[in-house]
Amino acid sequence: IVGIFIFGILGYLLGAIPFAVIIARSKGVDIFSFGSGNPGATNVKRACGKFAGNLCFFLDALKGFLAAILPVWVSMFVEISDVQILCVAGLLAAIAGHMYPVFTKFRGGKGVSVTIGGLVAFMWAAILIGLIIWVAAYYSTKYVSVASILMAASLPISSPFLYGAASIQTALAVFLAFAVIYKHKSNIQRLLNGTENRFK
Ligand code: G3P
Repeated sequence: IVGIFIFGILGYLLGAIPFAVIIARSKGVDIFSFGSGNPGATNVKRACGKFAGNLCFFLDALKGFLAAILPVWVSMFVEISDVQILCVAGLLAAIAGHMYPVFTKFRGGKGVSVTIGGLVAFMWAAILIGLIIWVAAYYSTKYVSVASILMAASLPISSPFLYGAASIQTALAVFLAFAVIYKHKSNIQRLLNGTENRFK
């Protein structure tokens, strides 16, 4: 319980670092009033170019990766039980921090980069499949949101085969898919209206 609390707080604070806001501001852009208004790598790329967007993706993914791997690293020095549960708690907290960061009045991103980084540490096979789906969906539709939604949706489909239906990984996959797709509700609305941004 103490471990969940400690790694939960650390994960939340890590996830809440608003890299998209910081990178965009360093280029004189208010990310909340540009493009989709979303503080995420895609919108930073739209507003500030490829390098800034890729940097934002890398840093956001790193937040998820660190939050998920931290308990494993600590367990090398300190005796802790249920490391896996602490990894999940850390990652969930980082996702919560990224989506609802205390530093930006709880206006956060959609959790795609953080999910990718966290699952590289915790469920690499599921995210590898998800990334293949992302690439295929993006290059066939040119909609980042469609690619992200399909990647998220793939997680609870592949996880039962990879980790078992009653595993902690599958439970995490179901939750992440719901959270990420829920955060894309404005994109889904724009897709239905035919007004979603397409990358050239
Ligand atoms: O990862 C977020 C992406 O799927 C959509 O971003 O800025 O087009 O809402 P955006």
